[in-house]
Amino acid sequence: RGGLTAVLELGVLVSGSGTNLQAILDAVAGGELDARVRIVVSNKPGVLALERAERAGVPSLVIRHQDFGTREDFDHELVSALQGAGARLVVLAGFMRVLTPGFLRAFPGRVVNIHPSLLPSFPGVRAQAQALAHGVKVTGCTVHFVDEGVDTGPIIAQRAVPVLDADTATTLTTRILEQEHSLLVEALRRLAARQEPG
Ligand code: GRF
Repeated sequence: RGGLTAVLELGVLVSGSGTNLQAILDAVAGGELDARVRIVVSNKPGVLALERAERAGVPSLVIRHQDFGTREDFDHELVSALQGAGARLVVLAGFMRVLTPGFLRAFPGRVVNIHPSLLPSFPGVRAQAQALAHGVKVTGCTVHFVDEGVDTGPIIAQRAVPVLDADTATTLTTRILEQEHSLLVEALRRLAARQEPG
């Protein structure tokens, strides 16, 4: 490939610190992932994820959901920005909004999410605290295709993470997050391999 196109042309949606985005950026820069991040879109201004994109020379954009009257209008703006940037696969990396069917129709089978539990256990918010509250001894993280449910689409990759007796939500979150980064890159490598012709 002459470096002009990558196997995966990514659009990454973020809402916060962007450590999962950073894992993708590092893997691409290190030649570990045949992908290019075409654009990073945040629904929140001033978050660290936007600085990470800037440092990596990746175009970024803030599209605030509060600026739109409906979820559909917000999602339509997201789709326009992603398609305009040439994104073909959308990665939700710490993105904290639920997407509408209209968004998913624009990227059928091409939206992936990373979630900090072993789905289907503990979907939704504060998955790490849910795991602690249930007293599970093993939890983990999941990369899955996004469907119209919340954290319910076909699973691509998972990794188990032990829960320690002394764990708090913070210590558990940190331990899971470390595994999320390599899991996300591994999952994207698998998708790139599926797409690679020949
Ligand atoms: C991560 O635990 C991710 O699984 C969840 O949001 C958290 C923050 O991710 N969806 P990041 O540091 O913003 O990538």
